[in-house]
Amino acid sequence: MNIERFDDEHALAEALATRVLQAILVNPALVLGLPTGRTPLALYRELRERSAIDWSGVRTFNLDEFAGLAGDHPGSYRAFMQAELFDHVSIRPENIGMLDGRAPDLRAECRRYEAAIAACGGIDLQILGIGANGHIGFNEPADGLCAHTHIAELEQQTREANAQRFGGDWTAVPERALSMGMATILGARNIVMIATGAEKAEAVRAMVEGLITTQVPASFLQVHRRVDVMLDDDASRLLTL
Ligand code: F6R
Repeated sequence: MNIERFDDEHALAEALATRVLQAILVNPALVLGLPTGRTPLALYRELRERSAIDWSGVRTFNLDEFAGLAGDHPGSYRAFMQAELFDHVSIRPENIGMLDGRAPDLRAECRRYEAAIAACGGIDLQILGIGANGHIGFNEPADGLCAHTHIAELEQQTREANAQRFGGDWTAVPERALSMGMATILGARNIVMIATGAEKAEAVRAMVEGLITTQVPASFLQVHRRVDVMLDDDASRLLTL
């Protein structure tokens, strides 16, 4: 894993936005994997501010979506992505890949998503955040992890971390979500993991320096050949390397 340290989340976001936009300039048909959450907010702000870049050939696939929520529900990740990025850049709606949490058959929806990613030739650049418990996407610590896009049961800690979008009430956060699996994520040609803030320091240490274990799903990134880990000072403070 290639570790990159930044003074703060703004410097990190600037550097990553530059990398994403350069990747689009080099490959206008870039296939981009995207996260939601607090961590990528600064990145999406940067990308909005540099919206002159042509996104019309870019395809995106988001990591996950809550089960049972329509795309226009304010708590949905689709609504998050529209507000933070998609409404502000020239991406074509048909090039946006999102899991449909309201699909009548959620298993079929997971299969559709895997097929859509494969039909694009796979993900060129996957951006990830990490949960304080070491999750990536909604792949939570467990005795076993799913390889492909699947229905995930959410930990209370993860629901609490998402409560802000549900009026601060973690019990209003859906109990299930759809998520890319470990093989879906590890299938990306390049991965950039971003983590900021002291609350991520222990998960970052376990991801980078710990044993590979299903109890820290992000530790599986150690087996991928091209992972850049972009950290602010707080998130990197427990690293000894
Ligand atoms: C969201 C996702 C999650 C988040 C993680 C960190 O699409 O895949 O794994 O990246 O929960 O979330 P924040 O950035 O809110 O701390």
